Amino acid sequence: MERERKWNLKSSKRDDSLRCSFCAKAQDDLRKLIGSPSGNPRAYICDECITVCHSILEDDRGTQPSFEIPHLDIGLYPTPIDEMAHLRDALGGGPRLFIKHDDYTGPGFGGNKVRKLEYELAEAQAQAADVVLTVGGTGSNHARVTAALAAHVGMECHLILNGAADATSANYYLDQLYGATIHLVVTRQERRPTMERIAGELKAKGRKPYPIALGASTPLGALGYVRAAEEILATGLTFDAVFHSTSSGGTQAGLAAGFAASKTRVIGVSADDPADQIAARVRKMVEGIGELVKKKLDPRIEVDDRFIGSGYGVATPESTEAIQLFARHEGVVLDPVYTAKAAAGMIARIRAGEFNENQTILFIHTGGQLALFSADNRRS
Ligand SMILES: Cc1ncc(COP(=O)(O)O)c(C=O)c1O
Repeated sequence: MERERKWNLKSSKRDDSLRCSFCAKAQDDLRKLIGSPSGNPRAYICDECITVCHSILEDDRGTQPSFEIPHLDIGLYPTPIDEMAHLRDALGGGPRLFIKHDDYTGPGFGGNKVRKLEYELAEAQAQAADVVLTVGGTGSNHARVTAALAAHVGMECHLILNGAADATSANYYLDQLYGATIHLVVTRQERRPTMERIAGELKAKGRKPYPIALGASTPLGALGYVRAAEEILATGLTFDAVFHSTSSGGTQAGLAAGFAASKTRVIGVSADDPADQIAARVRKMVEGIGELVKKKLDPRIEVDDRFIGSGYGVATPESTEAIQLFARHEGVVLDPVYTAKAAAGMIARIRAGEFNENQTILFIHTGGQLALFSADNRRS
């Protein structure tokens, strides 16, 4: 009965008992109701709800990139930003802490690769490619997301992975589930020449291959993180520093380019390579981004390589503590290979007093938690 009165959709006559189909409030002097254009409207909307709809559409417009370079619309943006007040308390105060959940970018179990691959796959489609290839380790997040997105857009996918067939790796399992063809090589150095050879063989068979660089870390792929920086700027929140994990450098290049005109420091914490190597890669990619978006960009590049420990994917006491702190105080799960080390770097700098309580820090969660479901990592 109540429901019938509120929704009153069958009425063809506007009268004072009409209610907005969205908020269910009745028409009054302040609130006018507009029906759909047919003589027998199926729904009404009041002025107040129209204003709300406009502001939602305006917000959405704020998440569109400032540059017009084709990208596929696959991820779920803007990814949420949450405050981590309990983690701040657990660290004994200090700067306000926020987290941007790029682990929630969506398909292929999310993470930072979705944003980069949206640009690379749009270019693959523009070149009428019918097969994509990429490289990584057998536990690679990038390979897994490439396989997932290739399946999503209907392209064949070849992965050139170094390491042994790894029955314990969730990423390796998913690569196969998404239907990728896997080519195993022994060392990292063999990956690229093998990808080039296979691309050549596919071409000779009349196929149109599109090889994607490690981590989709090219100026084109890095545009995904220029877009992420613009998404953050569009919230109106200002950050003194943004911390994230860095390795092949595309995430950092995009963020550094996107924040180049702001006061926000972008601090990449290395998961593997020395700081000078990553910084050189990032600088080169920023130059390429500048050419693509036709802007002169000269951001400061900050890479911290003090939290790698004894190597890529090997836990340190600091990364293990970071996983526990984020899980226990925020209910946020970090991955052991990338984000745990980045978080360890951020926590160490907060504890060292590098940031004060009037400052604000954003941690970008770049995903990778599937590594926790690989047998070796469950307890690290
Ligand atoms: C979960 C996760 N975070 C961070 C990174 C580093 O990002 P980038 O390669 O763009 O430097 C990677 C790279 O594989 C990753 O998988």
